Amino acid sequence: MNPLKRLGRRRASVLALLAVATLVTPGAATAAPEGVRASTLGAQAAQSGRYFGTAVAAGRLGDGTYTGILDREFNSVTPENEMKWDTIERSRGSFNFGPGDQIANRAAARGQRLRGHTLVWHQQLPGWVSSIRDANTLRSVMNNHITQVMNHYKGKVYAWDVVNEAFADGGSGQMRSSVFRDVLGTGFIEQAFRTARSADPSAKLCYNDYNIENWSDAKTQGVYRMVRDFKARGVPIDCVGLQSHFGAGGPPAGFQTTLSNFAALGVDVQITELDIAQAPTAAYANTVRACMNVARCTGITVWGIRDSDSWRSGENPLLFDRNGNKKPAYQSTLTALGGSAAAQRTGAPSPRSAAALPSSFRWSSSGALIAPKPDSTHNIAGIKDPSVVYYNGKYHVFASTARSAGYNLVYLSFSDWSQAGSATHHYLDRTAIGAGYRAAPQVFYNTQQRLWYLVYQTGNASYSTNPDISNPNGWSAPRNFYSSMPDIIRQNIGNGYWVDMWVICDSANCYLFSSDDNGHLYRSQTTVGQFPNGFTNTVIAAQDSKFAMFEASNVYKVQGSNQYLLLVEAIGSDGRRYFRSWTASSLAGSWSPLAASESNPFAKSSNVTFPAGTWTRDISHGEMIRAGYDQTLTIPACKLQYLYQGKDPNAGGDYNNLPWRLGLLTQTNSTC
Ligand code: XIL
Repeated sequence: MNPLKRLGRRRASVLALLAVATLVTPGAATAAPEGVRASTLGAQAAQSGRYFGTAVAAGRLGDGTYTGILDREFNSVTPENEMKWDTIERSRGSFNFGPGDQIANRAAARGQRLRGHTLVWHQQLPGWVSSIRDANTLRSVMNNHITQVMNHYKGKVYAWDVVNEAFADGGSGQMRSSVFRDVLGTGFIEQAFRTARSADPSAKLCYNDYNIENWSDAKTQGVYRMVRDFKARGVPIDCVGLQSHFGAGGPPAGFQTTLSNFAALGVDVQITELDIAQAPTAAYANTVRACMNVARCTGITVWGIRDSDSWRSGENPLLFDRNGNKKPAYQSTLTALGGSAAAQRTGAPSPRSAAALPSSFRWSSSGALIAPKPDSTHNIAGIKDPSVVYYNGKYHVFASTARSAGYNLVYLSFSDWSQAGSATHHYLDRTAIGAGYRAAPQVFYNTQQRLWYLVYQTGNASYSTNPDISNPNGWSAPRNFYSSMPDIIRQNIGNGYWVDMWVICDSANCYLFSSDDNGHLYRSQTTVGQFPNGFTNTVIAAQDSKFAMFEASNVYKVQGSNQYLLLVEAIGSDGRRYFRSWTASSLAGSWSPLAASESNPFAKSSNVTFPAGTWTRDISHGEMIRAGYDQTLTIPACKLQYLYQGKDPNAGGDYNNLPWRLGLLTQTNSTC
């Protein structure tokens, strides 16, 4: 909900014109249909749901050329040395997270993924660990290190290299000698993975190694046997990292076979430390193509940005020269990332992301079902921003009431959509919620606290609670989630408004999303136990140009899958509102486009039919009909329904006085 109440009619129509101007500019994000080439590595990789990352050195973060490329090109980072044992726990029990935090916080603030590297490795290991000879001591030292480090970075790391380089080079196919293998036996890897899973169940757990790219190598076979055994016995492992430090010839001929054979065991594969001597264009393209051809190859990380940043700097193995200019291999990499993107989208979805949602949508709309019901003290022009749950045999709808004087909230309930129009409107300004600016409600039940929450905007992010959703007088007075607007929002909001607060929880954390009418989606987090208090770590979860990522974001869990769905309202090149969609595998994850363009929108007048007559061309602020009603905001994967606001296409004038009504979309292209 956009409180344009401070804008007059003139400013609002200027906005609409600006929307047109912005979005017809070639290259504007929304104008580009899915599959069109993006201009950066990260954005291009994201088109097929992958990430493109780089190793980052904390010591280089003061270099503007370095950070300029980092933030422009990459949507994942791996600390090059900062999370290794000799940095984090140089002496026993004394933990130094400073350099790692610097990288982690920076990445989080920019919506970049973080790969954790690495927990158990025989190198960059302090002498106090490598000199331990007692198995019980070493086991507890190793488990403690894993637990402390993973706890510290909980919720921030997408995937951890739990064990690094444990296998021997050469023809043995066995584990190498190391203090871990020699003192604990070969079972140390299993032990490390089990400890890691209990430390942070939401992080992917990877085994990472080099010289495992050639399928026929004994080392590759040794690692493969271990992963197969882990999967067969239920030892937790989610991914295999192939470092891919290649010579000038690039990947071995069987590289793609190796990737797909590992993937077939039921793990993701990732290229984790790519660098290629002299960076030949074909060698880079071949490496990237192999990943693109394997659905479960989920991302690529190059081991540094410029040649001068590389640990192999004498071989100039990276994508940028020492001045930060793109090398020819940059172009071949970008092209290869786009090359099979279309095939990837239309091909079989990867088993892990078992995309229950289609990549394009079609809808049929009802007519306007809910209109304002003014009374003597409520002269309402529009009813907006609906939130809805189905509970106890009824739909419970909360919405904003709008008029030129400002916004407040209304509640109605009914058992069937055919009854929606005749339901009584309960104005919530008469309750403890009170009069004044309250808008854009979101309702859910908190199962732990056995309380209903109504989240809404007041200038801050606010909420009220109620033990009984059907009692409009049961709501508590507003309380704020934040003491004041978080700094990162203040720094990015420009001339926008802080609007449309949205809470969703997984089993560990609750997240509070909000928009700024200026191209940014923000995310804060707290633990499930602390909710509604403790929202912190506010970051930009996604960003685009102002009208391409405007407001009204919704985030849901898709039932029966690992997917989360993000919807954000945009303003189209016709000046009309519509929704774009993305998915992610975790709530703190990075968002990959699903139906995110103007030509392939989530919901826009162009993919909606109106059997009862075209009463609106805007598909604006709304909410999905959920599968349940709790804080997980779970939606079905099939036959989606979306309650939205629309208005007479000919209506104009003061934004706050527009005649918004509520209608219901029902998906018509559901395949299940
Ligand atoms: C390298 C770093 O790039 C160097 O800065 C450091 O001096 C040594 O380690 N395999 C790995 C990485 O898993 O951690 C290594 O990184 C390169 C080889």
